[in-house]
Amino acid sequence: MRILAAIGALAIVVGLAAAVFFFGGFYSVAGTADDPAIVTWALTQVRTASIDRRANDAPPASFDDAATAQAGAKAYAALGCANCHGAPGVKWQKFSEGLHPDPPDLKDVAGELSPAQLFWVIKNGINMTGMPSFEQAGANDEQIWSVAAFVKKLPSVSEADYKAWTASSGPGK
Ligand code: HEC
Repeated sequence: MRILAAIGALAIVVGLAAAVFFFGGFYSVAGTADDPAIVTWALTQVRTASIDRRANDAPPASFDDAATAQAGAKAYAALGCANCHGAPGVKWQKFSEGLHPDPPDLKDVAGELSPAQLFWVIKNGINMTGMPSFEQAGANDEQIWSVAAFVKKLPSVSEADYKAWTASSGPGK
């Protein structure tokens, strides 16, 4: 009984201390604040598990077609992805270096994420990061699948390809 009372009292003290820390303004929301390694680890695990559980849509039959990736390159440029993530031959905007967490180079994540996972992330965004929901930004599913197809092919897309695919008179839609 006495042990239970001690545990209860401790829980109340910890709860009060946390309330003072967070609501008293002691926690820094600065984008420059470094996260402790355990927080970064936990956030990454939570993000990966959340995307894994939700990304269940099957890609359209045209997912692997060259024309789909080319249309995706156009949509990628039009939707502004390159501002944060860069593109072949296109440097990201300076402001993206101030985002926390950092927008990854998509060439590096293309191999790790399945088509369904790419689609889900682009469609829904990632809460409390700079990654927007492009469904809310007005893109439809067909466009989002094409962007996912383009991202999947990114490691093999040359600067010349990207330039040609995103030129307004170029092939594709
Ligand atoms: C305003 C900046 C910004 C724009 C614009 C933006 N992103 Fe992101 N994106 C981010 C940030 C920041 C992250 C990292 C989130 C994190 O670490 O959890 C991210 C993460 C991602 C990821 C990786 C998710 C993972 O699990 O590793 C993908 C894929 C992605 N973005 C694709 C896109 C595509 C495609 C577009 C355009 C349709 C786009 N992003 C536009 C900021 C942006």
